[in-house]
Amino acid sequence: MEKVLQYLKENRVFYLATVDGNKPQVRPFGVVSVIDGKLYIQTSRTKEVYKQMIENPNIAICTMGKDGTWLRISATAVEDYDLDKIQQFLDDNPELKQLYSADDGKCTIFYLKDATCTFCSFTAEPEVHKF
Ligand SMILES: Cc1cc2nc3c(=O)[nH]c(=O)nc-3n(C[C@H](O)[C@H](O)[C@H](O)COP(=O)(O)O)c2cc1C
Repeated sequence: MEKVLQYLKENRVFYLATVDGNKPQVRPFGVVSVIDGKLYIQTSRTKEVYKQMIENPNIAICTMGKDGTWLRISATAVEDYDLDKIQQFLDDNPELKQLYSADDGKCTIFYLKDATCTFCSFTAEPEVHKF
């Protein structure tokens, strides 16, 4: 998980895909944290992406490194609306504090369950991490 966290933090923007009915949706995301051994992402309860993850928790993430490698993740997104953990997430990503506070009723976090993370490259075999 540490390698996945580092890669996502280093490369800043990752693309989060969700399922909307029977259609895929994808958008840029940028913040992650590990809290109590779980990898979390953050969003607002007002967004379509939130509604989609609640309705269908199957998500995928993709991002690319400066070295031409890329990371693909498939997982189940589980909402964890715990104000202490949301505060920890905001403390770990203080740039979010201009948009959110832990108890604003909007800010929420999801952890990735049953994640399969695959580091890919044109020159090496895929490296798979599961957590
Ligand atoms: C670089 C970048 C990083 C972003 N990171 C996040 C994020 O971590 N969480 C979030 O909710 N929105 C983030 N956004 C904004 C979402 O991409 C945007 O609100 C998007 O419209 C949400 O998807 P939706 O319209 O399907 O709900 C980010 C946008 C950019 C450009």
